[in-house]
Amino acid sequence: METGLIPAIVDCDPGTDDAIALFLALASMDVRLVTVSGGNVPLDRTLANARAVVGLAGKPVPVVAGADRPLLGHHRAETAVHGADGLGGVVLPDGPPVTPGVAADAIRALLRDAAPRSVAAIALAPPTNLALALATEPALAGRLSGISIMAGAWGEGNWTPSAEYNAAMDPEALAMLLEADVPITLVTLDLTAQALITPAVLAALPRDGACARAARAILGAVPPSRRFDHAGFALHDPCAVAAVIAPAMFGFRQAAVRVDTGDGAARGRTHIDRWGRTAHAAKIRMAETLDAPRFFAMLADALQRLP
Ligand code: RIB
Ligand code: CA
Repeated sequence: METGLIPAIVDCDPGTDDAIALFLALASMDVRLVTVSGGNVPLDRTLANARAVVGLAGKPVPVVAGADRPLLGHHRAETAVHGADGLGGVVLPDGPPVTPGVAADAIRALLRDAAPRSVAAIALAPPTNLALALATEPALAGRLSGISIMAGAWGEGNWTPSAEYNAAMDPEALAMLLEADVPITLVTLDLTAQALITPAVLAALPRDGACARAARAILGAVPPSRRFDHAGFALHDPCAVAAVIAPAMFGFRQAAVRVDTGDGAARGRTHIDRWGRTAHAAKIRMAETLDAPRFFAMLADALQRLP
């Protein structure tokens, strides 16, 4: 337990950007639990990757396996971005053994012992684990200070033209979180596009220490995105961590957000009403703008604080 830092649960599917987000969270928060789901790559790989990152960071944080598939439908990987192993081919030393149990149970056990509104949840994967935890014990939402979710877009998706990957993989789970009795911060593709990893940004990251070297290698393995004319790629998941630890570098707006859970072309689309055009309550805090230089400076500082 690290005094003065925000207690956190990180749910992830490492995944190159998840790995960087874990480094940032482990350096900047009191991470009490890391839960893992199948996502960018299958669960056996995301679990090994999460253990490896936690081990490299030298933090005694339990890593617990969760859902290997969404609530409905089947798992679909995103190896084009993350590689078949999930870390772009970067091999890390094996991490500590997995903590036995199931993610949803571990989340509930941690929250049962937590004070009201005391623990921040960071949702970086298809949000199946958090949805399962809260669906079976809804009162535990009151122990969460908030959930910062990387998902969705008010513009085009990155899995389908309509839907962002995490939302597309488990729209029912995302809808359940958006309806939970907990303050939600939503970090969409429109926000993360402002955290563009270009060769110049990568070159400016620190080189000293195993974690900094691993982060540079992992980021260096991600292909530049055609969405940005191959000038670089958006760094998604660390933005959801930063929205909790450094909100001052963001611009936020309250918005109404609904998820399309149909089975048509818009499945997984986040219908985001930023201007009060619908009758739905603007209960979601949308991250709209990011001070990218400050964000990258914070990431560099966090990596330098790790082994
Ligand atoms: O669409 C980006 C999100 O999907 C990120 O969380 C990435 O890691 C993948 O899980
Ligand atoms: Ca992720």
